[in-house]
Amino acid sequence: METVRPHLAFLCLLVLLPTLTTAVSFRLEAENAARPHQINWRSKASNHRTVHVTSTLQFISFPVCLYRQLSANITVTYSNDGGSDDVRVKVDDDTQNLQFSSVEASSAGAFWEVFRSTVFRDVTLQRGYNQLTLSFEKLDTYGIEIDYVDASVDDAFITEDVFHCKLVLGAEPTFSANEDRGVCPGYVQQHSYVTPCAEEDNVHLAVHHEHVQKYTLSASNPLYRSIYDIKDHDFTACTNFESTYWRFEDVSADDIEDDVITSPLSNKANLTGQLLQNDAVYNSKVSVWFTLKGFKTGFVDADIHSDLQATFSLGDAPSSNVKITYEGRSGQEVLLDEFSFNDRTVTKAWTVPELTWSEDRPNFLHIYVSNGKTTLKKVELVQGHTGPDTALDIFSSDSVFLQGVRSDFWWRRPVGESLTVKVRDHVFTNLSRVALYVPVPWSGQGSFHQILVLYQDGNARLVPVPYAAPIKGHWTPFGTSTIIGKSNPADLRPSAPIKTLTFVPETMEMTLDYYDGSTSKVTVTYTFSETTLTVSDMTFAPSTLGQPFATFRSMYKAFGNTDSDSVETDFEGPVHVLGSWSKLRGREFLLFRSVESRRLTQSPDLRIKILA
Ligand SMILES: *[C@@H]1O[C@H](CO)[C@@H](O)[C@H](O)[C@H]1NC(C)=O
Ligand SMILES: *[C@@H]1O[C@H](CO)[C@@H](O)[C@H](O)[C@H]1NC(C)=O
Ligand SMILES: *[C@@H]1O[C@H](CO)[C@@H](O)[C@H](O)[C@H]1NC(C)=O
Repeated sequence: METVRPHLAFLCLLVLLPTLTTAVSFRLEAENAARPHQINWRSKASNHRTVHVTSTLQFISFPVCLYRQLSANITVTYSNDGGSDDVRVKVDDDTQNLQFSSVEASSAGAFWEVFRSTVFRDVTLQRGYNQLTLSFEKLDTYGIEIDYVDASVDDAFITEDVFHCKLVLGAEPTFSANEDRGVCPGYVQQHSYVTPCAEEDNVHLAVHHEHVQKYTLSASNPLYRSIYDIKDHDFTACTNFESTYWRFEDVSADDIEDDVITSPLSNKANLTGQLLQNDAVYNSKVSVWFTLKGFKTGFVDADIHSDLQATFSLGDAPSSNVKITYEGRSGQEVLLDEFSFNDRTVTKAWTVPELTWSEDRPNFLHIYVSNGKTTLKKVELVQGHTGPDTALDIFSSDSVFLQGVRSDFWWRRPVGESLTVKVRDHVFTNLSRVALYVPVPWSGQGSFHQILVLYQDGNARLVPVPYAAPIKGHWTPFGTSTIIGKSNPADLRPSAPIKTLTFVPETMEMTLDYYDGSTSKVTVTYTFSETTLTVSDMTFAPSTLGQPFATFRSMYKAFGNTDSDSVETDFEGPVHVLGSWSKLRGREFLLFRSVESRRLTQSPDLRIKILA
């Protein structure tokens, strides 16, 4: 079962977080209130409709949903023909005393088309679900017509779907009572950036504490209740997923000679031709030179295997010999293939192994042909698809199942890293991750669900045991992940690479030995609403001084399309995950969704609690 979305390296487009808040205004049309009211047509009214109020027993109410407390300017627009009316605007507990009297004016009904506004500034609207209600304490015989209420708020993120309660709001989180555990507060630091791509982990929140000795990381079901269970990928606007490195079409060495052609896809690849004087077989060659980004800049392009594809056309020659060579990180010219063909056109494909290309200097591909009339209809180099992972049973019992995974490509293999797992005297090497499964009794005999995936780079993904479902094989998706272990937030892809994991099945304990010499013990526990890692016995390598001991990595594109939207601690918050805040102090840090997401809807909220 594939519950893990692609593990991404791409962190290039650093768009700064919005620092200036912008006022956004939301309109509540009186005629759209929940209950039917007397509606009048007015040519000058917004939406050409008003609600005519003639009784003090009448109220007009609007639902307003806010993910955090906001200050609003509230404008009520009305028309009146006749005596003055007293109107009250109630929000929350109605302590803000917002009231006005309509302007008295009579003109045989003509004033119903004259709209006036009253503004209340800096009205506090509470976080959560609010009712904004207009009530009428005194009305003249002709009443009053309400056109609309506008609410203007300073917030860079809130949308119509949130404000108008189209997305379900979550309950407010709670924190352990501030019992004195003798622990000083630490802080979470903002390192996020804006992205249009929903498959990129753009939320990076680093959790710091100078003397942490023990903490828990837990995953619990969202604070909202939603029956959506959306797990689809969304690659729209994901330019970093462009997998073709370069492409050239309709070139032949004879035609271009020493001219240089740049790949239409990017200026990262150029091509030229050359006539060969002293070669017994080949009379010309085409050379492509190109640069690729790799491990050092958080990319995989230079490291992962790649697919070369070429289509040759003979022209009017009877046949042609072809030789293809490349120069990559070894700096040597290596033969890839040599063949001859006599069809009019021929298309061939080759897989170039991982770790072939260089990220430090240009790479070369040379295509030699024996017949100068031979045309390259098309030649392109594409990032290789990662093949299926290989799963190994490491330990299996009725109560727990630990699986190891060997990946076709693992992003830390270029620096020679992989995970070794030991259980008693058994050793499993060359792994990229482990997955821990526990039984789900209500899904029937033999039904297991993964509650933890721990990657070699220190990333952990947790989920609670899934709800009962009528669908066999129902599963809960992962969303936010957490790097457990110290990592450098300045790295393009922060990681805490683990060398060895020693597993004790009886206690579900894992001893982690990191590549930098740090160590820790991780104990897995779960209830039917929460899965928890207790991290203790930590020793840190001196090189990690000042680094965060854990880092949340999550995704926020827009409300409703998120893996998390808010952060709150036992001391401060909530704040938006992409807000321009810098640090939040606390001993307990919750990364959660205050508003329903229609993406990985049931993926959990994550909480770090410093215990000692
Ligand atoms: C509310 O009105 C004041 C005064 O006009 C203005 O300065 C402020 O920016 C407004 N706030 C919002 C959220 O529109
Ligand atoms: C290809 O040529 C263009 C235009 O001269 C140049 O900007 C680019 O750096 C070249 N690319 C490589 C990989 O040499
Ligand atoms: C590690 O596993 C991958 C994927 O199965 C394989 O391609 C690679 O050769 C292995 N490396 C070693 C050192 O065994």
